[in-house]
Amino acid sequence: MLTFDQVHYYYRKGQTILASVSFEIHEGEFVAIVGGNGSGKSTLARLMNGLLQPREGRVRIGLLSTLNAENLPRIREQVGLVFQSPDDQFITTSVLDEVIFGLENLRLPREEMSARVDQALRAVRMEDYAEAMPHELSGGQKQRAAIAAILAMRPRILVFDEATSMLDPQGRRQILSVMQELHSQGMTIIHITHHMNEVLEADRVLLLDGGSITFDGTPSELFRTKTLADNKLDQPFAAKLHLLLGLNTELNADWKETIRTQWHTS
Ligand SMILES: Nc1ncnc2c1ncn2[C@@H]1O[C@H](COP(=O)(O)OP(=O)(O)O)[C@@H](O)[C@H]1O
Ligand SMILES: [Mg+2]
Repeated sequence: MLTFDQVHYYYRKGQTILASVSFEIHEGEFVAIVGGNGSGKSTLARLMNGLLQPREGRVRIGLLSTLNAENLPRIREQVGLVFQSPDDQFITTSVLDEVIFGLENLRLPREEMSARVDQALRAVRMEDYAEAMPHELSGGQKQRAAIAAILAMRPRILVFDEATSMLDPQGRRQILSVMQELHSQGMTIIHITHHMNEVLEADRVLLLDGGSITFDGTPSELFRTKTLADNKLDQPFAAKLHLLLGLNTELNADWKETIRTQWHTS
């Protein structure tokens, strides 16, 4: 569904941000992408919906290549991007306006528009905050409003670019639970994060390092590989997990819970 085929990217000639990146993300997957600061995660995210175009290689959403400018409006409808800062994303003066804003270009019939707004606000549990203004909202609520605005466009893929990193623990949990819920309804989720505990929520993890994907597998496989030691991620937590995984080969629900509790209390 989302295909990176030998993608090469640089901002300035002579520099390499991404070198020959290839992977495919399938419909309905929940994929985490991890990597150190400056490893190119946001660049990757912007390549996913055509905000950036590969210098070499190809990015496709279904059959649509981001290299073809005619495809970009459809691609942007299909791939929604949620960014890091809740404040920078809020462009209107209320939650409702925020959701309506993106829809205005679609020229939908009135009923369709209001049905979409309703459904999107409910999906992120913000239906009681439709009239709220940005300054009345917590970071987590603002991020949920941003997600609602994207959902109203009926995307096929949601990409979260460190969308939890500026939130308090409660806001972070809210966003993670929205991701889980949307995933259970069949949405394809790509969660870019440097919080290793959040990787546990995903079915599959890609590790971005030195401009390429150096790991592609399940979270438990990731914690078993030594590649982790080379990356500047949450070392103490990773080490803790490693220890736990040494006793258990698979992460079952109980272990996940134990790890989460440990994380939140440490
Ligand atoms: N607009 C830009 N112009 C030039 N260099 C950039 C730009 N955006 C990011 N970079 C550089 O590209 C590298 C990867 O950045 P980014 O994709 O934001 O990494 P991450 O999201 O993993 O922290 C960094 O070295 C960063 O300084
Ligand atoms: Mg980034």
